[in-house]
Amino acid sequence: MFLYSAILLALQATTTLAVQPLIIQGADFVNAKTGNRYQILGVAYQPGGEGGYKPQTGEDPLSDGSVCLRDAALMQKLGVNAIRVYNVSPDINHDLCASIFNAVGIYMVLDVNAPLSGESIDRGDPRPSYTASYLNRTFAVVEAFKNYPNTLLFFAGNEVINDVPTGRNIPPYMRAVTRDLKNYIKKHSTRSIPVGYSAADVRDTLLDTWNYLQCTTTGDTSDMSRVDLFALNSYSWCGDSTYTTSSYDKLIADFSNTSVPVFFSEYGCNKPSPRIFTEVPVLYGPLMTPVMSGGLVYEYSQEPSDYGLVNINSNNSAQLNSDFDSLQAQYNKLNITALQGVKAENATVTPPTCRSSLITKSTFNNNFTIPSVPTGAQALIDNGVSTSNTGNLVPIGNTKVTHVVQQTNGQVLDLSITVIPDDESNIPSGQTPGTATTSSAPAATTTKKSGATNIKMTSCACGPVLACVG
Ligand SMILES: *[C@@H]1O[C@H](CO)[C@@H](O)[C@H](O)[C@H]1NC(C)=O
Ligand SMILES: *[C@@H]1O[C@H](CO)[C@@H](O)[C@H](O)[C@H]1NC(C)=O
Ligand SMILES: *[C@@H]1O[C@H](CO)[C@@H](O)[C@H](O)[C@H]1NC(C)=O
Ligand SMILES: *[C@@H]1O[C@H](CO)[C@@H](O)[C@H](O)[C@H]1NC(C)=O
Ligand SMILES: *[C@@H]1O[C@H](CO)[C@@H](O)[C@H](O)[C@H]1NC(C)=O
Ligand SMILES: *[C@@H]1O[C@H](CO)[C@@H](O)[C@H](O)[C@H]1NC(C)=O
Repeated sequence: MFLYSAILLALQATTTLAVQPLIIQGADFVNAKTGNRYQILGVAYQPGGEGGYKPQTGEDPLSDGSVCLRDAALMQKLGVNAIRVYNVSPDINHDLCASIFNAVGIYMVLDVNAPLSGESIDRGDPRPSYTASYLNRTFAVVEAFKNYPNTLLFFAGNEVINDVPTGRNIPPYMRAVTRDLKNYIKKHSTRSIPVGYSAADVRDTLLDTWNYLQCTTTGDTSDMSRVDLFALNSYSWCGDSTYTTSSYDKLIADFSNTSVPVFFSEYGCNKPSPRIFTEVPVLYGPLMTPVMSGGLVYEYSQEPSDYGLVNINSNNSAQLNSDFDSLQAQYNKLNITALQGVKAENATVTPPTCRSSLITKSTFNNNFTIPSVPTGAQALIDNGVSTSNTGNLVPIGNTKVTHVVQQTNGQVLDLSITVIPDDESNIPSGQTPGTATTSSAPAATTTKKSGATNIKMTSCACGPVLACVG
């Protein structure tokens, strides 16, 4: 009996189609099988906002297969190939959700931290929060996601450094957590999963943060405390802006010689509303793709901060927002060959050497001696954490969405996922929702959100002491 089900399971498992794990080559993400460059065409995914993370009741954004099926089907139509999930529990089974997103060619960008006590580095007082217990949970997140081929990368921190005090105190801790995560992955994962940092777009700290984290103390890319990638949450393109008005041109100049992939871990200013997403053709056009690897639109679900592409009701029915249609129309205009069909250049990059002169602001930390592994944590790195929740792909079974989903015009969609062939990632479908846009969009205001004020936009509304690293 046991043997029979084991065989059956094995047979089914072999029929699970899978995306190709991505690798980093120079400053690009690359599909190792095709050798093609991969650019992130993503959305932030945190239905319920921070409240969607309820480990006590077994809930996080990747815990309910029927909800993931609904959202994966919509995202497949939208054309995205990646989601970012901010708060996940290492104790919840994510197999079905991860397998559904895998089946439609959508990768997962995962933050290892979460908003509850002891689940992040405290940006006000980092030392007491950098403990074996903190790392224990963090490594357990790696265990939960390391075996999914569509796990794209882990963020060691989100917007932990965003002003003068945090620029002084936090950088060594971000390198320390990066080192520990990379050492854990090296020892306990069959493949190398990249680890990076997601920065606030605060001009005072952005470039020093990037240089502090990308530099090497070993002369090459083998330095375990060096990030594998760098991302920023950018809200400087508002409404019908331009490459120069939005300061995208300055970002490209600043990051032009990056030694790691750079992308927007959030973008999509929501004022004026509705959004027209004219940054999309620029982000994926010839001015920016030589330097950047795409980005993730903030955010999939409508929450109080008013950035949603989709309204989700408490009974799990959903309705598209006109922003969904606008984003889809922009994606559909992109040149897919240029996006996913171009061979990566074989760039071998030399990271800058860590030295105090690399840091430009006198108030920013320029000491590259980082904290040693906390007491008790080296054993966790050496022997692995004790967890029974190491995730694996499972057969997805049903592909038809059960929840009611309406277009912007109210028409109910007949919605299923389409499992895509091995080694492929999702691309814009070319479909149009065929909508008569509802006129419920709020009147446009002219308020602009500048990058420097976007800190409150972070996914978690933690107290003043706890770092918003979720
Ligand atoms: C790590 O977590 C496991 C499982 O929750 C627990 O048994 C163990 O005591 C923890 N170890 C540390 C050092 O916190
Ligand atoms: C779900 O909730 C929405 C919003 O409250 C409501 O309009 C809809 O009728 C409900 N659907 C079902 C199937 O109960
Ligand atoms: C799309 O991109 C490819 C690769 O860069 C290029 O060869 C092709 O001409 C582009 N197509 C259009 C319609 O611009
Ligand atoms: C890139 O160059 C390195 C060093 O020359 C070589 O070992 C590697 O095979 C090349 N990779 C590809 C994809 O061409
Ligand atoms: C990038 O350019 C800056 C300014 O020209 C320079 O200081 C830095 O060393 C360069 N970094 C790399 C990795 O070449
Ligand atoms: C750099 O930091 C280490 C660890 O905190 C400290 O021991 C050392 O004195 C610092 N070096 C300088 C030059 O401040």
